[in-house]
Amino acid sequence: MEAALRVEGVSKRFGDVQALRGVSIEMNGSIHGLLGPNGAGKTTLIRILLGLLRPDSGSVELLGSNPMEDRSILLDVGVAHEKPALPGWISGRRYLFHVARLKRLEDAKQAVERVVNLFRLLPFIDRPISSYSAGMRQRVSLAAAFLGEPRLIILDEPTANLDPVGRHELRETISSMRRRGHRFLISTHYLSELDGLADEVTMLVNGRVVASGKLSCLQERYGGWVVETYEPPAEGQEADTIIEARALLETPNYEEARRLALRALQEGIQVEIRRLGLEDMFVRVILREGRKGGRRQV
Ligand SMILES: Nc1ncnc2c1ncn2[C@@H]1O[C@H](COP(=O)(O)OP(=O)(O)OP(=O)(O)O)[C@@H](O)[C@H]1O
Ligand SMILES: [Mg+2]
Repeated sequence: MEAALRVEGVSKRFGDVQALRGVSIEMNGSIHGLLGPNGAGKTTLIRILLGLLRPDSGSVELLGSNPMEDRSILLDVGVAHEKPALPGWISGRRYLFHVARLKRLEDAKQAVERVVNLFRLLPFIDRPISSYSAGMRQRVSLAAAFLGEPRLIILDEPTANLDPVGRHELRETISSMRRRGHRFLISTHYLSELDGLADEVTMLVNGRVVASGKLSCLQERYGGWVVETYEPPAEGQEADTIIEARALLETPNYEEARRLALRALQEGIQVEIRRLGLEDMFVRVILREGRKGGRRQV
């Protein structure tokens, strides 16, 4: 698969703030998660990718073209910004038609109908956008990103204002579009939403890439099992690593986790074994790699 995007040595400073420091990323998979704490530089990077912001140094490529030089490549890219700047005085439907025209879609009417249904906009789509709730605005912004089903869709915090059903539906939509060959770059703080969906991730900390690559490689490196109990150990109980403090054991070895869990159960302690999720790995990578301030290719 051709790289959907390439970022090479990109740096960007805003006054005193060094927002990005030599960021390099290559997206070869279908769904790439862009992760990082507040202020890590995710939105800045997305704006540079879209040609909305010029980097101080480095280069970017989107679907094989430089978006600063070849604006037409953006016709193949959908985007939902973190803070969507929607006009207030027109209806959501007119806004979507406007976006459809900018994207030069052949059958704008059908394309708008499709996203109106997909994001369940019908109850409010003909009202002025100024009257929308935060979630309604977000759904219109998502609908605009999916309009015409572009090859690459970039979503910056797409679920921040969505209700649980909306989040579930978005996941299903992304999943089914992936099967049809569409690709996604998704920045989010809700990591559980990317679990089982993303095939690649990049973690940014303080403007630096601390991990980037296939999720399966990240799982191999940081993945494993956790044994948790919700009961503190009784006094004098024979309890080694597993039953220390809040009784948490972490191991890459499932058999070890199982053995300790069985022993705990024999001692009458309720435990649970679970696989380390993306969120657990994120915390570990940020803590371990972020402290070093270096880059690690996973
Ligand atoms: N236009 C700007 N002017 C000055 N500083 C900026 C500007 N845009 C971003 N920054 C700074 O650059 C850094 C990175 O910001 P950015 O919005 O890219 O972070 P983020 O990873 O998207 O964070 P969040 O998770 O909170 O959305 C922050 O320190 C921010 O204050
Ligand atoms: Mg952001």
